[in-house]
Amino acid sequence: MLDKFNKEHTHRDDEVRFIVHGRGIFHIHGKAGTPAEKVFAIQVEAGDLINVPAGTQHWFDLCADREIRAIRLFIDKAGWAPEYVGAGVHAKYEPLCFGPEYVPLGGSKLAPFQV
Ligand SMILES: [Fe+2]
Repeated sequence: MLDKFNKEHTHRDDEVRFIVHGRGIFHIHGKAGTPAEKVFAIQVEAGDLINVPAGTQHWFDLCADREIRAIRLFIDKAGWAPEYVGAGVHAKYEPLCFGPEYVPLGGSKLAPFQV
């Protein structure tokens, strides 16, 4: 299923997901010629609700643990189908997620917080 959504695409309807378990990352590619033209990433995890507006260029990937469960909300199944952009922008980005498991073993090297 991931192969369907990890390439840059749009949908005719909003893509709304409520994350129940696991983690993943959405890359959003703003429209060319607008201040939001750049690509930015949004990491989602359990309890998050995301709405990717209809027509927004984006792609989705899993984090290293490759596990996610989500409730998808949509008006009709046809609007859920990906319409691929075909520019290959997604190939230039790694799905880099952050979280507690990315803290190095032995704890942080930062000085302890003092009051
Ligand atoms: Fe999508």
